[in-house]
Amino acid sequence: SVAHPFYGTAEQAGIRTEPQRYCVYMTFDLSSPLASDLQVLLARWSGAIAQVMQGKTIGQVEPNRTDAVGVDTGEALGLAPAGLTVTVGLGPRLFTDASYGLAKQKPTLMRALATLPSDAMTPALTGGDLSLQACADDPQVAYHAIRDLARMAKGTAATRWTVMGFGRASAGKDQATPRNLMGYKDGTRNIKEETDFDKFVWVKDSGPAWTQGGSYQVVRKIQMNIENWDADRISDQNTVFGRDKQAGAPLSGGTEFTTPNFHATASDGSTKISPTAHIALAAHENNGGVKILRRSYNYTDGLNQYGLLDAGLLFISYQNDPAHFEALQTKLGSSDRLNEYISHIGSGIFFVPPAPAAGHYIAEAMFA
Ligand code: HEM
Repeated sequence: SVAHPFYGTAEQAGIRTEPQRYCVYMTFDLSSPLASDLQVLLARWSGAIAQVMQGKTIGQVEPNRTDAVGVDTGEALGLAPAGLTVTVGLGPRLFTDASYGLAKQKPTLMRALATLPSDAMTPALTGGDLSLQACADDPQVAYHAIRDLARMAKGTAATRWTVMGFGRASAGKDQATPRNLMGYKDGTRNIKEETDFDKFVWVKDSGPAWTQGGSYQVVRKIQMNIENWDADRISDQNTVFGRDKQAGAPLSGGTEFTTPNFHATASDGSTKISPTAHIALAAHENNGGVKILRRSYNYTDGLNQYGLLDAGLLFISYQNDPAHFEALQTKLGSSDRLNEYISHIGSGIFFVPPAPAAGHYIAEAMFA
């Protein structure tokens, strides 16, 4: 069972890390107006995250004094680290609310996301001042981490919204491409090369020193109209994505990893990949060369009030400029054939600082 280090790794784990099988994502609202409370929470979270990523508890499960409450809730005892990563994000209000005094420390491009075409947000599923992305190959290990970190936040931050993800829907460099709940391979043309991480993921600008090497995390809870999708004929499903379902090959021909040819035409003169297919709109070739790192998971909330499957994609992307996501989603939200089958119901933006050095904690230099 893999254990990832928390300290001294430049970037936080859980971004470049090969996607694990499960994810529990949770956001929090700061209830305390004091920067010192936020500082203590980030320090305590850092210490606890370092422990759980090594498969350890965050403190005693059975305190010596039997009338004391356990520090750790105990459900991960005996479970291996399972590749756990916990990635901490900081929301926009930390830098805009004068009570924290952090305006000068604002990551250069940090701001609330613009309202985008086709947004169908449920307020209770949007925003947040802090985010935790816990991913592991064992769902109980990921859940334990979030539960115990949420417990530590009491009095400083309150839980806001959460999504439990399974069956990663994004591929790492050495992984076979997994599938999303629409049955399509997801992550075929994701960022995989170092040069692209440097160019598109990590922040390198003239902003505050502590933000260098961090990244902006955009999260969307995207509901799928599963029954409608399942009733759609396969030729239309393929047209929606611009790829073939089973093999994942672009409709312009070849195999999964063949570069799509968005100009190739069929005998009737139409392009083999529709100009409004998901990949045609999202591809870097058609977006001024811009790429984002996708690190999504499938989710289900069971059934909705009509007895229909309530499921979708916990979309998580990392980029060094939130405008890259906005530009893509502006196009997708206006024209994507996929829109008939999905709704963006939740959203958040967070700055993910670099990892702390040993003996330090996440975003420590922000309080200097
Ligand atoms: C590609 C599914 C939402 C950006 C793909 C592919 C699939 C897919 C199957 C093709 C395989 C691949 O290259 O990864 C979905 C589903 C979504 C969704 C089911 C929603 C439920 C989004 C959103 C964005 C996005 C919100 C960004 C705003 C991209 C990009 C590509 C891609 C950049 C690569 C295109 C290329 O270079 O060929 N997506 N996606 N997707 N998607 Fe999505």
